[in-house]
Amino acid sequence: MAKTKKTIFFCQNCGYESAKWMGQCPVCHEWNTFAEEPAAPKGSSRAGKAGGQRSAALPKRLSEIDLDENNRILTGMKELDRVLGGGIVEGSLILIGGDPGIGKSTLLLQVCRRLTEQGISVLYVSGEESQRQIKMRANRIGEFNDKLQLYCETDLEEINNVIERLRPQALIVDSIQTMYNENVSSSPGSVSQVRESTGVLLKIAKGMQIPVFIVGHVTKEGNVAGPRVLEHMVDTVLYFEGDRHASYRILRAVKNRFGSTNEIGVFEMRNDGLKEIENPSEFMLDGRPADASGSVAACSMEGTRPIMIEIQSLVCHTNYSFPRRTANGTDFNRVNLLVAVLERRGRIRLSEQDVYVNITGGVRMTEPAVDLGILLAIVSAAKDVNIDSRTVVFGEVGLSGEVRPVNMAAQRIGEAEKLGFEKVILPAGCMKSLDRNRKTKIELIPVSNVREAIEAIL
Ligand code: TYD
Ligand code: MG
Repeated sequence: MAKTKKTIFFCQNCGYESAKWMGQCPVCHEWNTFAEEPAAPKGSSRAGKAGGQRSAALPKRLSEIDLDENNRILTGMKELDRVLGGGIVEGSLILIGGDPGIGKSTLLLQVCRRLTEQGISVLYVSGEESQRQIKMRANRIGEFNDKLQLYCETDLEEINNVIERLRPQALIVDSIQTMYNENVSSSPGSVSQVRESTGVLLKIAKGMQIPVFIVGHVTKEGNVAGPRVLEHMVDTVLYFEGDRHASYRILRAVKNRFGSTNEIGVFEMRNDGLKEIENPSEFMLDGRPADASGSVAACSMEGTRPIMIEIQSLVCHTNYSFPRRTANGTDFNRVNLLVAVLERRGRIRLSEQDVYVNITGGVRMTEPAVDLGILLAIVSAAKDVNIDSRTVVFGEVGLSGEVRPVNMAAQRIGEAEKLGFEKVILPAGCMKSLDRNRKTKIELIPVSNVREAIEAIL
């Protein structure tokens, strides 16, 4: 009996594998996402076993393993180095995801420039653009030296041969979705292609001990297109985000085996490429209306760095039978919860009012410490009173209306002081963590519940 060729069904959304077709994916619950693809051939590069790591695979005692502290390459772009946890780790596989046109290729070309300036040879493989197109982009960015080589190819076997020959010290693959592997018969961008290609690149990274950057496209839900396994296979996942219509971009680590995932890097897209923004707070507060009701400055910690943001709210009488709540730049449910807390604990009637909340600048801040800022912005809008524009607010709000302490109060106050703010409304519980002897000009207003916070601004 002739054996039929084995196929597997993949969920195109989350990468779930199944032997039979299904209408709804049991894992991500998406409908109609299953596609049939040939099963991966035996011996192909499935996740894990990276060729060059054989010798490291023998069991060793912790004390026998020496860490070479110098195995990080600094790109010189401080924002990027910080997000990576202090530079690029040799032999690491780094995935950069983001919407089309957000600046992934530009960022990586700038990385190439910084690396080649240090004498590191880089191979930039693009499956999306021609050499001329890349050259045009490079011209906008600046001068490049001969350590950079461009290669436009999508066949991974060819790419592998070229890498064997050139032995670059860093590799960039512009868009994993365009790469294809002869062994896999499905089309580029499909789940099995993306997975196989990443496997090949993983082998290259670990086997040659070179950093490999891969660009990944993002689906409309905001995940890297292709299977979730892609994120499991790589060492670091960075997302490049921001409003395409605004000029700044935020680079965020979503996964990092070599550093913290809380750090963000802020860039601005200029005519001559991406420029780092070293003081994002000033940038975020730029253009803030002086003394308008419904606007308040709040402080959110992004990793080790405090960032000031402006929270705006608008409250108006509703035209519908049930009022609208809108949250832009923060969690919708959190806003609903804070509105409920205000009604019950703050005695502010909002049941016939539409409430809109917006964090300006298109950033997304979900740290609980912005709760108090959102809450006071809503109060300010509902009562139509201005909050002094030189006041900063932070604190988490609990369901009983208590204002709970948050971490790193001193850093937040320091940032406020640096930017010329005069007052800080903060959780009373944070006071004991502050150094009593510290001399500050800034006035601290500790509050322990929502009522006290409202009194502080009215
Ligand atoms: P690109 O890096 O091609 O985005 P991606 O690879 O993520 O799809 O960048 C696209 C946008 O950036 C494009 O709309 C043009 C703009 N841009 C600038 O504004 N200044 C520049 O110096 C460069 C190179 C691009
Ligand atoms: Mg691109």
